[in-house]
Parts: sequence; C-alpha cells; structure tokens
Amino acid sequence: MTTDSGSMKSSGFWSGLFSKGIRIEDLPFETDMHSHVLPGVDDGFRDMEHSCRAVAELAALGVKNMVLTPHIYPELYPDNTHGFISRHFDAVKGRLEEASGINFLIAGEHMVYEGIEETFNGDLLLLPGRHILIEMSYAYESSNIDETIFRLNCLDYHPVLAHPERYIFYSGDTGRMKDIVDRGCSLQLNLLSLGGFYGKGAAMKAAAILEKGLYSYVGTDLHSLAQIEMLRSMRFRKRHIPQLERIMMNTTSLLSAS
Ligand SMILES: [Fe+2]
Repeated sequence: MTTDSGSMKSSGFWSGLFSKGIRIEDLPFETDMHSHVLPGVDDGFRDMEHSCRAVAELAALGVKNMVLTPHIYPELYPDNTHGFISRHFDAVKGRLEEASGINFLIAGEHMVYEGIEETFNGDLLLLPGRHILIEMSYAYESSNIDETIFRLNCLDYHPVLAHPERYIFYSGDTGRMKDIVDRGCSLQLNLLSLGGFYGKGAAMKAAAILEKGLYSYVGTDLHSLAQIEMLRSMRFRKRHIPQLERIMMNTTSLLSAS
C-alpha cells in the first residue's frame, strides 16, 4: 500500500532546485486532480480544520478546481465505498468551498489489486469523462496492471496511472512508461516529485518522463499542510515549463470532459 513519507535532501542537487527557476504561482496550475483533502477517510487529512486551511492555501497559489481522490482499496479502507465517500463529500463540500472559493469534485484513487474488476460494474469513483485514477503499491508492480488497463478500455473507461515516477520498480528508462501509454493508460505527475520530495530517484524519473512528453495530467497528491509549504518553495526548471504548462492546461480541460 502507498504511504506518503517523502523526504527532502540537502545536497547541492536539491538546493539547486530551490534556488532559481519558476514558482508555482507563475504557472497555470488551476486544477488539482489528485488530493487526499477529504478529511478522515484515508492517510491524508484527518480533520476539517486542516482541510480548510489546505484548500485556502492552495487557492492562494492559484488553484481554482480540485478533485478529492481518497484511496479506494477494500483491504486497507473497507469503508471507502462509492456511497460512503459520496455522502461524506456532500457533507463537507460547502465548508471547503466557503474556506477557499475552489470548485470541488469527488473521485477516487483506485488501487489495482487482484479482483479489482469486480468493481467495474459501477462502484467506481470516476473523474470526469469516465477517466479513472489508478495506483499500485510503490514496492511492486500489480501483476494484473496490463489486464486492468485493457479491461477498463474495453468498458470505455480511460485509466490514468497516478505518479508513475514514484514506483521504485520502474527504472529511469521510460520504455515501460511509453508502453503503458500505448496500452491506453494516461500518466499523472505528482508536482512534488520534481522537487525531490519523494527522493532523488523519483525526481529524476519525473524529469525524464516529463521531458519525453509522456505525462498527460498533473496533481499534488496532497496529504499534509507541509506539502503545500514544499510546493510554495519549489522552483521549476525553465526547460520543464512548456511540458508543465501543457499538462496543467490539459488537466483543467479534463473537468469539461464528458
Ligand atoms: Fe494519492
């Protein structure tokens, strides 16, 4: 199962990322499609007070739309059914809007586990346009990932693999990333990966995938207020800006997909 214990390093490599470059406020980051801000349902935010602070701070950075994507994985979060998550979202949406002025949607981040296909009959928490955010364990590739992508496409869903740069079993070689895209699965970048929050390996893989133009979408995967501070501190490299602008605008376009 995923955890979110990223770490900053203090070498010259890392300090270089923060000393110059483009700030998040100067990029068209208007839509965050991946976050764990719905309080009390997973390993993200625990209470409304912190969730309200988080969305207010993201609004100050320019975010106008957010998709809340709690983990959907029966083994770890048995309560996180479509019905439970939707009811919880309906109960807190107004307060989050009031705190931030952001437009909120609810979806889910679906773990690809053995038997996930049993949920394909309608118990999915989808992004707009029948897109579905999927993830794997960071430690090993789901044995049924290719089959899951195939089945989802057959059912006219559009899978989006969350943060491929964070999976330790994928090397810096982007060949497998292109293979996944060619199989019909889009890729979503975690912004914090580029800043080294998840380590040097994830940062280098994120840069390689970005430079190959293989990402389609971008999000924060926000789990804590500390990550917003990190986002605010980041300085993006100039050579990454065209690709970042493309996927940021594409992510906003996702909201109007039908
Ligand atoms: Fe996530």
